[in-house]
Amino acid sequence: MWPVLKLLLLQAICSAQRGVLTEGKQTQQAGHVSVVIVGGTGDLAKKYLWQGFFQLYTSQVGSGHTFSFYGGGLSPDDQGTPVLFDILKHVACSPDTPVERCALLKDQFLHLVQYRQLKTPEDYRALGRHIQETLQGEGMEEAGRLFYLSVPAFAYADIADQVNSSCRPAGGAWLRVVLEKPFGHDLSSAQTLATQLGGSLKDEEMYRIDHYLGKQVVSNILPFRKVNQKFLDPIWNRQHIERVEIVLKETLDVKGRIPFYDQYGVIRDVMQNHLTEIMTLLTMKVPQILSSSEEVLRNKLQIFSHLQPVGTKQAVIGQYQAYTAEVREELNKTTDQFSVTPTFAAVMVHIDSAQYDGVPIVLSSGKMLDERVAYARVLFKNDVFCVQNPDHIHCKPKQIIFHFGHGSLEHPAVLVTKNLFKPELVDGEWREVTEHKDTTVLGFPISDYYVQAPKVQREPYAELIGHILSGRKDCFISAENLLASWGLWTPLLHSLRGSYPRIYPGGEANGNLLDLRLSATELSYASDSVVIISPETMGGTASESFQVTQGKFRGDDMVSAWGEELIARLATDLQAAAEGAVSEGGAFHLALSGGSSPLALFERLAQHHLSFPWRETHVWMVDERCMSLREPESNFHSVHEHLLQHIRIPYYNIHPMPVMLRQRLCVEEDGGALLYEKEIAHAVNGSAFHFVLLGVGLDGHTASLFPGEKAHERHGESLVALTESPVKPHQRMSLTLKAINKAQRVGLLVIGKLKHELLTQLSRVKNKPNKWPITGVHPANGKLVWYLDYDALLG
Ligand code: BG6
Repeated sequence: MWPVLKLLLLQAICSAQRGVLTEGKQTQQAGHVSVVIVGGTGDLAKKYLWQGFFQLYTSQVGSGHTFSFYGGGLSPDDQGTPVLFDILKHVACSPDTPVERCALLKDQFLHLVQYRQLKTPEDYRALGRHIQETLQGEGMEEAGRLFYLSVPAFAYADIADQVNSSCRPAGGAWLRVVLEKPFGHDLSSAQTLATQLGGSLKDEEMYRIDHYLGKQVVSNILPFRKVNQKFLDPIWNRQHIERVEIVLKETLDVKGRIPFYDQYGVIRDVMQNHLTEIMTLLTMKVPQILSSSEEVLRNKLQIFSHLQPVGTKQAVIGQYQAYTAEVREELNKTTDQFSVTPTFAAVMVHIDSAQYDGVPIVLSSGKMLDERVAYARVLFKNDVFCVQNPDHIHCKPKQIIFHFGHGSLEHPAVLVTKNLFKPELVDGEWREVTEHKDTTVLGFPISDYYVQAPKVQREPYAELIGHILSGRKDCFISAENLLASWGLWTPLLHSLRGSYPRIYPGGEANGNLLDLRLSATELSYASDSVVIISPETMGGTASESFQVTQGKFRGDDMVSAWGEELIARLATDLQAAAEGAVSEGGAFHLALSGGSSPLALFERLAQHHLSFPWRETHVWMVDERCMSLREPESNFHSVHEHLLQHIRIPYYNIHPMPVMLRQRLCVEEDGGALLYEKEIAHAVNGSAFHFVLLGVGLDGHTASLFPGEKAHERHGESLVALTESPVKPHQRMSLTLKAINKAQRVGLLVIGKLKHELLTQLSRVKNKPNKWPITGVHPANGKLVWYLDYDALLG
């Protein structure tokens, strides 16, 4: 390996200039910089970092800076060194570099790099000593040390600690430690990480990377807004902006990344960071001084403080069809496990300020969509109504598109429709594009737009690495910025827990399944549909395996899936209802039906829902046959066999129906029905069960309310009644429609092909409770959800 002195000489030959590097306001004292990539043989380093540092090196030749580079890894030197140099073979010069000069630069660079094992505290101490000795040996002035932690986030705190205790530069030289997302999983884990890191590093020493901030169009948003302020100021407000869309669409799946992705999902993976950053750049006050990191960060934080909380009504989630199979494969899960991690999401955000009040800002991203493209579009209101010639440019939407990359345009650009204004160019790095291939952008011919593009396209990592050296903190995520962003997303993430994503087939086949509808306060899918997937094609993407049906049944919500998945969903919903009720009032009152349909549910609850709050749950019966509860045909017996005997529920929380009093079965004068009614009234607030689970018989009966009973009229205000079944045993005790309709939630479970005809009929009939008692179920203040399996739904 060449001594650094020789390289100094070489650099001096390459350029005689020495001195000070200036970018924006930051002035960097030239000197020696030691760069350490911890994780230097990993994937990110291989794909982007070494190339970025090589570019940094070539751009700095002659600036006065000298460098040494260390690739750190866990393997011993003899194993790590060849791997590292294999990676370094692939670094490339910019296309305009002459061949000989490129060869020289690469050669220099390779001689400045060495591999080091960085595993133990002693390894870091040895590195610290080595850097010190090199500086002294070569008599170099030290500018700073840059540690790039390209390792999983759980290792950050420990490495930061080692860097702090063993590798801090002395004197006035700087220390910069670069970190990659994920920076936590939610607000509290981000706070914990920030506290841990804060024990070793000062905030100004931490450079949290968001590679979107290195994309040329993203970093051009503020400069573009500034140079075009005279055009934008009058229209950048709620009177003129219709909405803002920030979109990152991808065609790939997440195969190979599932252990990470399944824990994070699309909101944490790209919305909390990339899309949120873009949103702030678009909406924050344009700084007086663009190069002032403090002002940029201050203005960003100001926007965060005006963001309105986002709830589930402002969000939709989806998951591509093959995802669950990929999860099962990569995480070795059994076939009855399914993941609810979203791979698609759209969220509507509002800013509470005089400038943006009421302007919807829609952030949307997904995997396995129809195309790869990322853009932000500011759509303006157009008050021109064209009576003739609707194709005229003045009749078309007015919009500004920050096109980050890919898509039909295939290159980064800023586009402004010609009916708005002709934008100024930001600086010497941008050019106006006047000759294009014949294409459309977001539905309009490219000729409708003024187009600006960077003269030279650059990789985000290379850009950001340059900014680290020049200390441009505004291109990184400050701790306050990070926590403010988690503050926006964490409540939504928590309230989405347990929500089911809409399944989409992937690619073109998604059709309009993921289209969105915006109202003043809500964002929803534009079509009320569910996707039906046959189990045989669960893992595939074949669009033929999809059928789409309405997401409502008889006007109420419907959940539909194949049997096993449906039961799993119902069980999860039940647990969510139980947890909600317990946290609100300390108890959960659940009324269960008999019959064969719920047996699989009972078993699933017993086997898989070990955290169900059974201690606080009261189990009531929807109906009972007038027979001893010991009889296998009794409803209580089957609930006991399949559920109660397997769970830890206090016996005084179990409420069988008193069908046998005074050794007699269901005798009116014994008052069993009234007794049960009183027990309900005594234990259940307002006699309103939290959840009533019902089924429906082939004749349309539900609970033990049969056709032709005139149940409504006969039972009056009673909550429990003795009823007559057309089949044996004839005598029954049942909750009445009155009691059922008081419930906060009614789940109606229908499974099996046999029920298909009945469902078809029910989907058409009006409410006639005397003929079809099931049609009398309408919770007055609650919600009815139909759980229909595909056999019952489709036959
Ligand atoms: C990364 C996410 O941060 O951004 C990936 O982890 C995503 O899931 C990527 O694919 C998108 O970045 P780009 O630059 O390809 O748009």
